[in-house]
Amino acid sequence: MGSILDVRDIKKSFGGLWAVRSYSLELPKDRIYGLIGPNGAGKTTIFNMINGFIKPSGGRILFKDVDITGKKPDFIARLGIARTFQNLRLFRNLDVETNIKIGGHKYLNYGFHDLIVSSARYRKEESELNSLVNEIMDLLNIKRYRYTKAGSLPYGIQKRVEIARALVSKPDLLLMDEPTAGMNPAEAKELEGLVKEMKKEFSLTILIIEHRMPFVMGLAERIQVLDHGILIAQGTPDEVRKDPKVIEAYLGEVKALA
Ligand SMILES: Nc1ncnc2c1ncn2[C@@H]1O[C@H](COP(=O)(O)OP(=O)(O)OP(=O)(O)O)[C@@H](O)[C@H]1O
Ligand SMILES: [Mg+2]
Repeated sequence: MGSILDVRDIKKSFGGLWAVRSYSLELPKDRIYGLIGPNGAGKTTIFNMINGFIKPSGGRILFKDVDITGKKPDFIARLGIARTFQNLRLFRNLDVETNIKIGGHKYLNYGFHDLIVSSARYRKEESELNSLVNEIMDLLNIKRYRYTKAGSLPYGIQKRVEIARALVSKPDLLLMDEPTAGMNPAEAKELEGLVKEMKKEFSLTILIIEHRMPFVMGLAERIQVLDHGILIAQGTPDEVRKDPKVIEAYLGEVKALA
């Protein structure tokens, strides 16, 4: 079976400096893979190239056999890739439910005329979106906050709202950029369980960038290690954990691998 995401030797330079020198990935459908590496290794830049925020300086990205290299974020989202961000990008003054619904926009096909006359189509799509939002809020255990302003919630809950917003676009592939950043260990452990449930419920393929080793090693079947824009190791969590090149790249952070 082919890969759902096939990244072939992509690279990116910013003003002559290589943020990503060479990155490739064959990600089969229904798997969770991890991408780790020290600060500044180029991990977020890879996500930015996959979801169309920045154009690669070279290489190819295929998603569901469609060449998406350099395509617009909107096109890529419609094709089925969603992401969450390293730093929260919620509308702090809007409630949780509204923040989540924003993610469902690509599914609202009704036009202005439909809205005015409140056509059957508008009502149908709106009610489908509402039930999907409810299902996702249940799954992520955030329904009790639906009418609460996002900005007033604890950080760990806001991170879950952001995941909910990504899920409501019904992606096939979810890119998660440091989902546990800012969480305490208990919140991170809870999220680990939620990610497993999400994957099952929504038949997701997931690529996770993380610094928190127990989290990513508990979830990902395979892990890639990026350092200075280049892959220095890849394999199962056990293989990666023991790899001397990985330990060296994390020198000073060795405890993180324990
Ligand atoms: N838009 C940009 N313009 C210029 N330089 C950039 C840009 N985005 C990233 N960089 C640089 O590219 C390198 C890789 O950054 P990137 O954010 O991809 O790293 P990262 O692995 O995600 O790091 P972290 O773990 O700290 O999030 C860094 O040196 C960064 O300063
Ligand atoms: Mg980053």
